[in-house]
Amino acid sequence: MSELVLGVLVSGSGTNLQALLDAVKAGRLSAKIGVVVSNVATAKGLDRARAAGVPAVVVDHKAFADRAAFDAAVVEVLRAHGATCVVLAGFMRLVTPVLLDAFPHRVVNIHPALLPAFPGVHGPAQALAYGVRVAGCTVHLVDAGMDTGPILAQATVPVLDDDDEASLAARILEKEHELLPQVVQWIAEGRVEVAPGGEGKRPRVRVRIERR
Ligand code: GRF
Repeated sequence: MSELVLGVLVSGSGTNLQALLDAVKAGRLSAKIGVVVSNVATAKGLDRARAAGVPAVVVDHKAFADRAAFDAAVVEVLRAHGATCVVLAGFMRLVTPVLLDAFPHRVVNIHPALLPAFPGVHGPAQALAYGVRVAGCTVHLVDAGMDTGPILAQATVPVLDDDDEASLAARILEKEHELLPQVVQWIAEGRVEVAPGGEGKRPRVRVRIERR
């Protein structure tokens, strides 16, 4: 099987990117991070990429007429660096079919909630406000909706009585850093299979791993 080449998209601090970089370095992730792309020139994730010797490219969404034109520019950068799989790691833009069709079933997102509960940008705060006792994170394939694509894996954390948004988000983020490299490794190992779901149905995902 040819090596998985990741294009990682970030908008902010990039701690999930760091988890991927660390996993590659430690030999826990058999993939190459070919390029990191950000829509935000000041994103700390870009510094993390540069520090690891990974090409860091800014594609400023404000320079494009619409999301599709922005995505086309991102696809060009990803292809130029040989990416075969795209990871949205704190990437705060909705993606369009332009990106999704360029990497069919190979665009992955990490979300800080147990989907389908609490999609969007306030997952931990909404979990807290609702009063759930268990929260967590989800790694899923991206489709044209917001946080709606087929789920690959989830990890849970307890919600404690004295949690605030920051403490809960931090506990979830720690789990994200474990789960994301793990799922990308499953993809690298060819363990993730996606079958069309049929007319009007979601694609079905099978992850061939031993469940404990
Ligand atoms: C993470 O909570 C991720 O789930 C969400 O945005 C946050 C990004 O954190 N999509 P980082 O940039 O990886 O540090």
